Amino acid sequence: MERLTVHASVQYDIFIGNGVRALLGEQLKAMFGAPKVCLLCDSNVAPLHLKEAADALAAQGFSAASFVFSAGEQSKSPETLFSLLEFLAERQFSRKDVLVALGGGVTGDLGGLASALFMRGMHLVQMPTSLLAMVDSSVGGKTAVNLAAGKNLAGVFRQPDLVLCDLDYLRTLPDKDFADGMAEVIKYGMIADRDLFDSVKDGDVKDKLEEIVTACVRIKRDVVSRDEFDTGERAKLNFGHTLAHAIEKESGFSVSHGAAVAMGMVAICAIADAHGFSDVLTFPAVKAAVEHNGLSAVSPFPLPSLFAASVGDKKRSGNAITLVLPSEIGQCRLKTMALERWKELLGA
Ligand code: GLY
Repeated sequence: MERLTVHASVQYDIFIGNGVRALLGEQLKAMFGAPKVCLLCDSNVAPLHLKEAADALAAQGFSAASFVFSAGEQSKSPETLFSLLEFLAERQFSRKDVLVALGGGVTGDLGGLASALFMRGMHLVQMPTSLLAMVDSSVGGKTAVNLAAGKNLAGVFRQPDLVLCDLDYLRTLPDKDFADGMAEVIKYGMIADRDLFDSVKDGDVKDKLEEIVTACVRIKRDVVSRDEFDTGERAKLNFGHTLAHAIEKESGFSVSHGAAVAMGMVAICAIADAHGFSDVLTFPAVKAAVEHNGLSAVSPFPLPSLFAASVGDKKRSGNAITLVLPSEIGQCRLKTMALERWKELLGA
């Protein structure tokens, strides 16, 4: 088992390993006394893991309620958020109580925002069940729901009180979802850790999951500790994401986030190599790593057609966009350029 501590506006621990879900009750008692607990889960994760979590809490004397919502991105909405808030109010939860987000990225983002809003802030524990949520969304405090105008447009920074990354949960994760998480793992290797990149570009990753998840979370912990509110360096965590968000949007969100990140990383490396932004060629290695992990390297949409969607999100500022470009494997840099230049690079 690994234990990492985030030093942001608040300090909190992340436990990573097989079986760390068993720590929930003792950690809650140590941190909050005897709180009421609301387990938040989607309809895919609930049949697999909710009863075990609820039974374990009940056996340790906690009063626990469960809120289950329909699985899918469509539930990351103001409607589900407000249903959850009403549920907490009806059951007389208070600020001293705890919301446990047991699930993937949607559950974590929704739960994070609900915990920040309910009575202006109740306690939050993140228990990610997907690889993507373990290495990325459960750590760092970005919470949000989507609006009709776009993804993640209504949210706040709200760090959790505790993160329990139980690797046992990955045993029930479908292969496609595991591959989605690997796209983010490759991202961490590309931006900050050549050894991590090399360790996942070939060979079997499933026998070294604790090492891999810990390496990713350590990078995220360090970046978040230095730039919690995303005013500079944290943008590096969006490597591959400018084009990924455009691909997701153009596909009507039928291309998953991880799949789109894989395509976005390969495309930005091709652009960086072709235009001399990278110090060495990065495209061949990233393409190989992506394909080795069951992900497609090719965008279903030609790059020129992605220009409009790529400048519509939060990375744009006036007539400029900040891109995350690879310098080499394991290192990247931020570069702000005029939208016209970005358009040219995409061949639009
Ligand atoms: N997922 C990117 C970030 O947390 O900043």
